[in-house]
Amino acid sequence: MNDTVIRGRLLAFHRRPEHAQDHDAYVYEENGAIRIRDGRVMSTGSFEALGPLPDGILVQDHRPYLLMPGFIDCHAHFPQVQIIGSFGAELLDWLNEYTFPAELAYGDPVHARTMAAAFLDSLIRNGTTSVAAFCSVHPQSVQAFFEAAHTRNMATVAGKVMMDRNAPAGLLDTAQRGYDETLALIEDWHGRGRQSVAITPRFAITSTPAQLEAASALKELYPECPVQTHLSENLDEIRLAANLYPQDEDYLGVYQRYGLLGERTLLGHSIHLSPREIATLVESRSVAVFCPTSNLFLGSGLFDYKRNQARNMRIATATDIGGGTSYSMLKTMDEAYKIVALQGPKLSPLESFWQITRGNAEALSLDSELGTLETGTYADIVVLNASATPEMALRMQRAQTLSEELFVLQTMGDDRAVAEVYLAGSAAKSAMS
Ligand code: GUN
Ligand code: ZN
Repeated sequence: MNDTVIRGRLLAFHRRPEHAQDHDAYVYEENGAIRIRDGRVMSTGSFEALGPLPDGILVQDHRPYLLMPGFIDCHAHFPQVQIIGSFGAELLDWLNEYTFPAELAYGDPVHARTMAAAFLDSLIRNGTTSVAAFCSVHPQSVQAFFEAAHTRNMATVAGKVMMDRNAPAGLLDTAQRGYDETLALIEDWHGRGRQSVAITPRFAITSTPAQLEAASALKELYPECPVQTHLSENLDEIRLAANLYPQDEDYLGVYQRYGLLGERTLLGHSIHLSPREIATLVESRSVAVFCPTSNLFLGSGLFDYKRNQARNMRIATATDIGGGTSYSMLKTMDEAYKIVALQGPKLSPLESFWQITRGNAEALSLDSELGTLETGTYADIVVLNASATPEMALRMQRAQTLSEELFVLQTMGDDRAVAEVYLAGSAAKSAMS
């Protein structure tokens, strides 16, 4: 028998907390434990409730740290690891000045492998156990990414960006090549181990109508594959999209006309939306992906998290590396909190931690596997220390509730607050240092 037990204070959500005191939304065990078999959660609860353990069973004792489902990042670009923190431009200039030149290098499989490993290890160090990632236009970059994720037994969603205009020649495919290469990647990787292939037209500006048609045909052929793209991040981007697709009423209308919306569609940013676009997002059950550090860094705008949630919009959160400035979902929610605070009622710590675990798993339609620590799901676990730095330890001396502890983690924490990370039951963070 290959069981392990992980001990610590245990926290997992079974639904979205509706307010700051909604203590029915989660399970918390002070003396908690997770029993794991074959990489999956066999049981959770108090350590005593596990009953007598067989001799020789491995018990990893993380008390007094907090155990939670690993964090999930719903939008990031792995070929942008070397351009995080590039100064001074808004979205379209930033893409042309920094992003596209960096992505040109990902036709080289050696470079792609090196960067895929660095990207995933940085996420893991920060407590992220799953990511929805954009690769470059080169299929080699997707191969490199999935090989690195598969080796780590890390569940990911990823895709080759389809782009056939408005970028340097070395980054362009064609409608047909984008289709063929995505199809080959789906056949090779979708469902292999823990990997899912996303149909990934970068955005309306870099795809011709013929290419969006090809993406649509792929979605029809593989309805189980997620679709990921960008929507309404920046006002110049919206104007350009309107010029390129003059027949559509609005930006979302472009994706809608090509049948690209639906439960598995992830729309990065979705900041500047008309009432019609909001209604269409909600009705189609597509997911708006809130990328707070990126939206502030590029000066893109303030995502209307609370109001969109009240409208029943499905929402995910994400780092958007490298427009985003941190690999940490703690820092991401720290910035999300500030954006929400500028617009009205604040985001509670309970809601934040629901969002980056179960909430993001639900947004990816992967909550039967991830984000909950329910029996039978993968044992992807983050171990959190809210006293990881001297400053945090001082602050924690005056923290009295779980919510306060979570808020300290979110406001002051980063990779140093992540004591350990388990991927399918195996220690991953300590194994790399
Ligand atoms: N829109 C299209 N491509 C990108 C990208 O790489 N980053 C961001 N932030 N927005 C985009
Ligand atoms: Zn993006």
